[in-house]
Amino acid sequence: QELQINLEQIEKGGYEHFMLKEIHEQPKAIKDTYRGRLLRKEAIIKMAGIEDNMKKFLNADRIIIVACGTSWHAGLVAEYIFEDLARIPVEVEYASEFRYRNPIITENDVLIAISQSGETADTLAAIKLAKSKGAFVFGVCNVVGSSIARESDAGAYTHAGPEIGVASTKAFTTQITVLTLIALRLARAKGTISSSDFRQHLLELEMIPKKVEKSLESDELIKTISNVYKDVNNFLYLGRGYNFPVALEGALKLKEISYIHAEGYPAAEMKHGPIALIDENMPIVVIATKKGHYEKVVSNIQEIKSRKGKIIGIVTEGDTQVKALADHVIEVPETLESLSPLLTTIPLQLLSYHIAVMLDKNVDQPRNLAKSVTVE
Ligand code: G6P
Repeated sequence: QELQINLEQIEKGGYEHFMLKEIHEQPKAIKDTYRGRLLRKEAIIKMAGIEDNMKKFLNADRIIIVACGTSWHAGLVAEYIFEDLARIPVEVEYASEFRYRNPIITENDVLIAISQSGETADTLAAIKLAKSKGAFVFGVCNVVGSSIARESDAGAYTHAGPEIGVASTKAFTTQITVLTLIALRLARAKGTISSSDFRQHLLELEMIPKKVEKSLESDELIKTISNVYKDVNNFLYLGRGYNFPVALEGALKLKEISYIHAEGYPAAEMKHGPIALIDENMPIVVIATKKGHYEKVVSNIQEIKSRKGKIIGIVTEGDTQVKALADHVIEVPETLESLSPLLTTIPLQLLSYHIAVMLDKNVDQPRNLAKSVTVE
């Protein structure tokens, strides 16, 4: 048994939990994911799975993304990127709903299945259904040789390395990385992005690992904030545009490992319900980075403040406007709006991690959850 414990300690590489180790591995994981694919000097993106099937993608009437859990959130981010950059209509579906509702699928559809484990039963069933209707199926998986990878017509791996913590972290950011590369490649092929914009995206994407490192430096500050709010019963997470899915993901992380009820919401929808919950006992995490609806989100923050809600703002370095209103702010470096989820996610992962640790929860293996859900 002693040997077992020692082995586990070695595997955790000096970190107290796998989740923390995996959070810190993200700069490297993201780099590993774009390495050999993003060729900045040549100004190209090279992905065999896309090149070999370019016609399928370019002729597609739409892209349907199916996934579950955190992978579904990566799919939502991808919807924004694909539509924005490549101008291809995208629908994002929970695999479990899609498979049972007699969906309309044609041979002109491309279905992208996103799955860390590559074994999620509902996602696998959705793929089989789409294939039976003649759609082209593309898998975005982390586990090499997994069932979903094998069932797909083509695919691209996220090279995140093994993810042990049940709550997904580096799988999420590397999924977004792969999907961004695909969107950029298709945008180039379709001519929906200018060559200078394309180059700028490549440059900015290459700077993400360094900026993730910078974001991780807020760890101590986030610990302090966690200590203030660890005993509350409810949390609200708000974000808009590209950062709406990040709000959902932040809330999911907190639920999964700390068992605190948390809801993610599009910031502008706050007035249609969640605002009724706001009082001095409600902490609200608001993603309010500079690009993308900043002023609108700032007015949401004002509304929260006038109802005495506690505001934890995720802001761009150097922000002053939100800082003046919020109870706490956590800074992330500036980047393109489309890449901002890769940075804004980081403090939310750390927040849930520290709260769970302070509450003495089993961070790596939360109750009732499994890493890979092979039953429906
Ligand atoms: C489980 C895991 C989640 C994961 C989801 C989808 O619920 O606990 O972390 O996001 O399954 O898994 P997949 O392997 O398909 O990405």
